[in-house]
Amino acid sequence: MRSHLLNDTTAEQYRRSVTDGVERVAAKLATTDRPFTGITVDALSPRIDEIDLDQPLHDTTAVLDELEDVYLRDAIYFHHPRYLAHLNCPVVIPAVLGEAVLSAVNSSLDTWDQSAGGTLIERKLIDWTTERIGLGPAADGVFTSGGTQSNLQALLLAREEAKTDSLAKLRIFASEVSHFSVKKSAKLLGLGQDAVISIPVDHDKRMQTVALARELERCTKDGLVPMAVVATAGTTDFGSIDPLPEIAELCEQFGTWMHVDAAYGCGLLASLKHRDRISGIERADSVTVDYHKSFFQPVSSSAVLVRDAATLRHATYHAEYLNPRRMVEERIPNQVDKSLQTTRRFDALKLWMTLRTMGADGIGQLFDEVCDLAREGWKLIAADPRFDVVVEPSLSTLVFRYIPAAVTDPAEIDRANLYARKALFASGDAIVAGTKVGGRHYLKFTLLNPETQASDIAAVLDLIAGHAEQYLGESLDRAS
Ligand SMILES: Cc1ncc(COP(=O)(O)O)c(C=O)c1O
Repeated sequence: MRSHLLNDTTAEQYRRSVTDGVERVAAKLATTDRPFTGITVDALSPRIDEIDLDQPLHDTTAVLDELEDVYLRDAIYFHHPRYLAHLNCPVVIPAVLGEAVLSAVNSSLDTWDQSAGGTLIERKLIDWTTERIGLGPAADGVFTSGGTQSNLQALLLAREEAKTDSLAKLRIFASEVSHFSVKKSAKLLGLGQDAVISIPVDHDKRMQTVALARELERCTKDGLVPMAVVATAGTTDFGSIDPLPEIAELCEQFGTWMHVDAAYGCGLLASLKHRDRISGIERADSVTVDYHKSFFQPVSSSAVLVRDAATLRHATYHAEYLNPRRMVEERIPNQVDKSLQTTRRFDALKLWMTLRTMGADGIGQLFDEVCDLAREGWKLIAADPRFDVVVEPSLSTLVFRYIPAAVTDPAEIDRANLYARKALFASGDAIVAGTKVGGRHYLKFTLLNPETQASDIAAVLDLIAGHAEQYLGESLDRAS
């Protein structure tokens, strides 16, 4: 069994084994002609159920053969140009190389004595990001597992900074189309059920600052404490960016923590063309960035950044067995002092490899391409009488709905769109997402792949229309 341990004596086996795995994946990537095979849960489950985990195969080739059957063949492939569903980007090769290195060396970024150079690399990337944002000289932050954790940590700091004698009085303000992790965080942080106040959005799905001002005033008058405003820079559905400078003004006026959830919009930090769309982000007290959304990084890669490094103390605990207090005086950099996690992956290495290979401009160029593609896609859909598109894209999503000329019942149109999405998924030809707007079912393209062409968008629209028409035809048959 020791032959499976990665060490000085098994380096050659490691090389062979990993190369075998890489070969399989490379072959898969080269031959995938659809983002999905369309397999159903019922068809796939028995294949996994029948595997006896107490009967190992002992042989890597056999394990890889089996993996082909239970995973690789039917996985959802984000690199395919017709994967248009969620906020999953195709990944850049330097980052995948980083992933291979970091799991083999297996540094843990909690303490210096488990990571050494890894700690310094992460710190440099945090500084790089805070400089890109413009958070100022006292800024700091830490890598996290994703936007959900970054938002949670930011709101924990905001809660600790808020002046109150009761958690029940704390209020968080976020737009009605903000990410659900804001509400989840409020619950995890022990705030009351009504802690998150939903602020309406304008026609472009941006927070209405007049409504925000009104709510801030109302809460203050009622003796409640405005703990934080969460401005979203790139909403999950619409990519809309809340008016950051106006929100910053209000936060200053009411002494409220400003958190910017730029999980999606952070790609603009590297953009060569559209950086101005997130002007005002530099006034935040904390920012969430998901490199695994718009920096073309593999899951996971995210960070929470703060204007004032001192606020990270709210996540600091000391233990003799790990990071005794005296290490702070000895100036030993232990990242665990800033993190909600203890053992933590060296995810920062992926971004490091990316920046050292491609540079930030390389990432920015790719993100600009998908934003430009979304604009092209918007023109296509807006000009197509078969579809209704909700807003012009601020980033790279398009929310739209098939509207058959002959049908006026909105519920029937809902069913046709739901059917089209399901049928498309089952065919594996393309994958799109869905959401609700004004209580009605819509479809969504999230465009994060620079390889996707306007012709792919046009072809997928035709497929959707075809499936929806088929549903409506069958529905008519059923009725007659
Ligand atoms: C705006 C926004 N914030 C936060 C998140 C949560 O990020 P994660 O899925 O990395 O936890 C998402 C995910 O889509 C998001 O769109």
